[in-house]
Amino acid sequence: MLVMGIESSAHTFGVGIVEDGKILSNVKDMYQIKDKGMIPNKVSLHHLKCADKVIVDALEAAGVRAGQLDGIGYTMGPGLGPCLQVGMLSAKAMAHTLGIGVTPVNHALGHVEIARAYAGLEDPLVLYVSGGNSQILKVSQDRFRHYAVLGETFDMGIGNMLDTFAREIKLLPAWGSSVEKAAAGGKYIELPYTVKGMDFSFSGLLTRLVELSGKEKKEDLCYSLQETAFSMLCEATERALLLTRSRELCVCGGVAQNTRLRNMLAQVAAEHGAKFGFGPNEFNADNGGMIAFVAERMLKAGKRVDIKECVVKQRYRIDEAEVF
Ligand code: FE2
Repeated sequence: MLVMGIESSAHTFGVGIVEDGKILSNVKDMYQIKDKGMIPNKVSLHHLKCADKVIVDALEAAGVRAGQLDGIGYTMGPGLGPCLQVGMLSAKAMAHTLGIGVTPVNHALGHVEIARAYAGLEDPLVLYVSGGNSQILKVSQDRFRHYAVLGETFDMGIGNMLDTFAREIKLLPAWGSSVEKAAAGGKYIELPYTVKGMDFSFSGLLTRLVELSGKEKKEDLCYSLQETAFSMLCEATERALLLTRSRELCVCGGVAQNTRLRNMLAQVAAEHGAKFGFGPNEFNADNGGMIAFVAERMLKAGKRVDIKECVVKQRYRIDEAEVF
């Protein structure tokens, strides 16, 4: 089956093409965040302007024509409403014109399933860490097969916390990756640490970091932020690993690109004899390939949705999405 996937939930408009589980192309255009974060209407305008070019580039990179596609998937949510709508409308227009099936895909499920496949893991405990989400997940073997949320953030996603702090201390680009670079050589400062069972909270940590910015060295703040926030994630993940007796641990999502977090999780997994893995960074960042990957499985399972019933859902949780 030849399937296109369109991702547009946040800053990235991405289009991927997959054939029988193999990614043939994965093209994207990213809205550049300056000093004010993401304003949904501005980001959706960016997506509108680049959509046709990204779609054509993805087809060319895969070496296929639109007429050869068997189906199309788009990100239904979670994400920013105006941005999600650009991807949905693009997918609906193509599905209608080409007379092919269309299916809505959960964004988080895209990250998890492609990371799991690339890492060669069967049934892992998953730490999903991105801008808007931070969750500990495990497949529930009910009749409705889905990822159950064992633990999650009480307030903001860790990625948004990192990006907000990067903007606060004027790092450019204002991403978590800049925080990671700035953390090199830093010293530890004690910061608020909030874990409740398998849940955690980042807002108190961010408030304290903002209070300290300008008073402490940037490298010390970035280093201490990473050590504190990642230790919180590791503590909650370790608890979930013991509770579920999982033999595998997977990390995915934008913040899974952070080397320090990966190393800390690898240590947790090693201490409990669990196999640890993650996918390529290309799929931890937002991309259309992962949407195509999940959409193909859904379409093969007959999960085709009438074009008139295609919608977006800004707060579409992963535990509402069936796993095929
Ligand atoms: Fe994402």
